[in-house]
Parts: sequence; structure tokens; C-alpha cells
Amino acid sequence: MLLAVSLLALLPVTLAIPIRDNQQIALRPSNLASPKLEIGWADPRILGGQFVDFTTPRYGEPLNVIISNLSDPFILTEKGFRWYYKSIGFSEECLGLHYGHVHKADLGDGDRRKSEHILARQHYFPGWGTCWESLVGGNHFRAWKQNGTEANTGAWFLGASKEEDSTKNHMIIPNGYNIGRDLLVQSAVTGSRWKGISWRADLEWREGLLKPGYEGINHAIAQDGRVAILTVHRV
Ligand SMILES: *[C@@H]1O[C@H](CO)[C@@H](O)[C@H](O)[C@H]1NC(C)=O
Ligand SMILES: *[C@@H]1O[C@H](CO)[C@@H](O)[C@H](O)[C@H]1NC(C)=O
Repeated sequence: MLLAVSLLALLPVTLAIPIRDNQQIALRPSNLASPKLEIGWADPRILGGQFVDFTTPRYGEPLNVIISNLSDPFILTEKGFRWYYKSIGFSEECLGLHYGHVHKADLGDGDRRKSEHILARQHYFPGWGTCWESLVGGNHFRAWKQNGTEANTGAWFLGASKEEDSTKNHMIIPNGYNIGRDLLVQSAVTGSRWKGISWRADLEWREGLLKPGYEGINHAIAQDGRVAILTVHRV
């Protein structure tokens, strides 16, 4: 707290007040950067895509994590990706039950709006599996592969979020987009192991791809507009 106060004292007065919970969001640039050529993935916006999925015709959830194609080639396969997300605590839906409806996303790869390829939920305890999570709520992500013919990079685009328990119909918790993303990123960066393979991800934060705030965002839950670019290595 003391540290925060002394840091604030260094900021120009206009930025330092008012002090609110969402100050960090308020201070972030709201302008989007123009799409440019990226290494390891393609900016969906170049070919008419966007960093918000299509949950409903008007609202969507942020695509807030990218797994770059500079990752280990196994991670880019469906099987390798499954092994990987199990290593960081996620698994497919409980008993194949599919809650809620399928989201679509336009990754600007020529496929236009395509249905999610994967929906995985965090399982808190080994052995309990995802059924536990489905009951109490928790972290989950949807993933799409950028593999349309016009930008076939093989990168994975994820929309991560944390939700309330199932009695609340899988509502995203306040700040649940940022929290869900950060939890996933934290596990990836810390490193993980599954079926004898160890992984660790390099992380790059990007702003300017996704507009901060709640405009166009499902449930009007604000998010900070940051996208995590992960490059996952075998260690
Ligand atoms: C990785 O993505 C880049 C675009 O950033 C693309 O040029 C390259 O071909 C992709 N690599 C693979 C292995 O698909
Ligand atoms: C793109 O990737 C998804 C997920 O792995 C797969 O289901 C789909 O068949 C792939 N599409 C093509 C054209 O290879």
C-alpha cells in the first residue's frame, strides 16, 4: 500500500486522481494499433476478424491469449495441445456435456465465423476431474485454431475467463476475463508437466489489439484489453 501511494505521487496529478479500482483500466490507451505483420500468428483484423468472439450477434468475449506457432510443434497439434492444457490444469467438459452454447470467432484466416474447436475447464483436484469445476464454477477457455487457408498459421487463439458456479448459469465473475486470463498465463509461465513432458511458456503482453472496457463485451464486464502471447517450449 505504501509503495503504491509513493508510486502514485510520482504520476502527474491528472493521472493520479481519482483513485478507483478500475484506475488501471482507465489509464490504458483506448486506441487500437493498426494491424501489422506478426511473427508466430496473424492479426485477425487484417482480414476482417476481431479479438472478440461472437457469443451473441452483438456481444462477445475477448480473445485474450494466443499460443504462437513458434511454440513446440506438438503444441500446435490437437493432441499436443490437449496434453498441454491438461498440464496446466484444464480438461474437456465433464462427461462430454456441453454447457451453454458454442461460440464463434473470426480469426481473419478466411474461415469467417467458425465454431470453437475446444472448450476446456479447470479441474481443481486431480481425480475430481472437470465435473467438480462444472459444479462450483471456475476457470475455463474456448480455443480456435487459426488454420483457414488465408492465414494458416496454426496458432491457437483462446478466450479465457473465470465464472461463477453452475447455479448462476455460468455467469462470468466481475473482472472474470482478466482474472481467467491471468490464472492461465501464470500457470503457463510457471511451467508444468504432464505425461512426462515439461513445458514452460515465454510471455509477451500486447495492447492495442483489443479495446479495453466493456463495450461489445458479453455481460458488460470490463476487461483491460491486454492479450497474452505465449510461446510454449519443451524444457
Ligand atoms: C507462423 O506464422 C507466421 C505468421 O506470423 C507464418 O508466416 C508462418 O508460416 C507460420 N509458421 C507455421 C509453421 O505455420
Ligand atoms: C483446423 O483445426 C481444427 C482444430 O484442430 C480442426 O478441427 C479442423 O479440422 C482444422 N481445419 C482444417 C481445414 O484443417
